[in-house]
Amino acid sequence: MALWKSVGLWTVCVVLCLLGKISGLDNGLALTPPMGWLAWERFRCNTDCKNDPDNCISDRLFRTMTDILVSEGYAAAGYEYINVDDCWPERERDARGRLVPDRERFPYGMKSLADYVHSKGLKFGIYEDYGNFTCAGYPGVVGHLSGDAATFAAWGVDYVKLDGCYALPADMDFGYPEFGRQLNLTNRQMVYSCSWPVYQIYAGIQPNFSSIIEHCNLWRNFDDIQDSWASVESIIDYYGNHQDVIVPNAGPGHWNDPDMLIIGNFGLSYEQSKTQFAIWAILAAPLLMSVDLRTIRPEYKAILQNRKIIDVDQDPLGIQGRRIYKHRGIEIWSRPILPIQGQYYSYAVAFVNRRTDGTPSDVAVTLRELGLNNPAGYRVEDLYEDVDYGVLSPQTKIKVKVNPSGSVVILRADAQPSFAFNSIPTRTPYSPLNDVFRLTKK
Ligand SMILES: *[C@@H]1O[C@H](CO)[C@@H](O)[C@H](O)[C@H]1NC(C)=O
Ligand SMILES: *[C@@H]1O[C@H](CO)[C@@H](O)[C@H](O)[C@H]1NC(C)=O
Ligand SMILES: *[C@@H]1O[C@H](CO)[C@@H](O)[C@H](O)[C@H]1NC(C)=O
Repeated sequence: MALWKSVGLWTVCVVLCLLGKISGLDNGLALTPPMGWLAWERFRCNTDCKNDPDNCISDRLFRTMTDILVSEGYAAAGYEYINVDDCWPERERDARGRLVPDRERFPYGMKSLADYVHSKGLKFGIYEDYGNFTCAGYPGVVGHLSGDAATFAAWGVDYVKLDGCYALPADMDFGYPEFGRQLNLTNRQMVYSCSWPVYQIYAGIQPNFSSIIEHCNLWRNFDDIQDSWASVESIIDYYGNHQDVIVPNAGPGHWNDPDMLIIGNFGLSYEQSKTQFAIWAILAAPLLMSVDLRTIRPEYKAILQNRKIIDVDQDPLGIQGRRIYKHRGIEIWSRPILPIQGQYYSYAVAFVNRRTDGTPSDVAVTLRELGLNNPAGYRVEDLYEDVDYGVLSPQTKIKVKVNPSGSVVILRADAQPSFAFNSIPTRTPYSPLNDVFRLTKK
């Protein structure tokens, strides 16, 4: 029952997603969710380079991660940004009011680091805060919006994450767009990552998502991720429970950000790591790894470099997926993806088992029950295991075995073309609006 209700909601979403005039920030960036490496979750505000030179927030850490992104195949898999987070600047601005990178930890300056990242074919991201201070107490941008935007452009920054500590959430409706305007005025294209909605939600203010979409490439809706399965579950629940508000806001150039990937750290099992990656792909989430790439074990690296799941995350339609079923610890999540055949989308479908009763659960469902109605069928394959189910009709019942304790099975179902002899070969190109109307007529 619940399953059918949810599939009905998909139609509502598709209508809202495509009819709702959602035009994002017009800077030509993040047409698919950004991918890269971000220091915060794993390396935090470690500034102690004297005692911990290998792990402190420093020029050396970012150059090392840049090298590994390239040498270990992450860049080839699509990871592109090397992003600095909090704790990079001096506590005081210089005499002319400019931000200064910590002189000991970034002795060559940020331009030199950005140049290095660029020389490896990657892009460089930095962190600031719309407020008097960053969350860790370094200078914020308020009062210096145009100067700081110009500084970032001069350094060659490609991506700015703007946090919201030490600011009034009510001011953000003005402040985030204003800093975005200042970034735009530099004429350097920079991805703009906002924390605007999450601080407003904490303050009991309903975020104005049409404004957020217009001014930010991505934004945080919920808590900072921590190194635990409980944290990942709380994020999955938040996105599922609020999906009617959240999902329609996503699209090329404007994404919901459920926060970093913690795969390869201390808190997730192997199975739970596969689940974070699969659900983040269903959510059309930015894929920002926060892990020590020097020591990550090969099986976790393989998850992060799973091309089939990255392809789902990076699907050009940019439609965020939804939780379509949740009952007794079993969840099904689904996301429409390319190719579209006639009126039918293809889908990625993830089955998650959050039960803790120690043994795999069988989940049996027909493709039709998942909302997959293409009469010509779907080619179905497993995205972690090397299993190709062949072409299945909508009435085929598929059965997957999902391990307990936060494990996942993720499938991809590619709609097959119909080669009916009697069909009129009209070959009208796909138009999302036609598709909506045909979908809703049913
Ligand atoms: C600045 O904004 C204009 C208008 O939205 C847009 O066309 C242009 O590409 C933007 N430039 C940059 C560098 O983001
Ligand atoms: C930021 O600093 C200014 C000037 O000291 C002060 O008036 C304002 O209240 C501060 N804002 C917040 C949110 O603390
Ligand atoms: C939300 O933002 C849009 C676009 O900036 C604006 O037109 C609209 O008035 C805002 N809505 C509210 C309720 O403030």
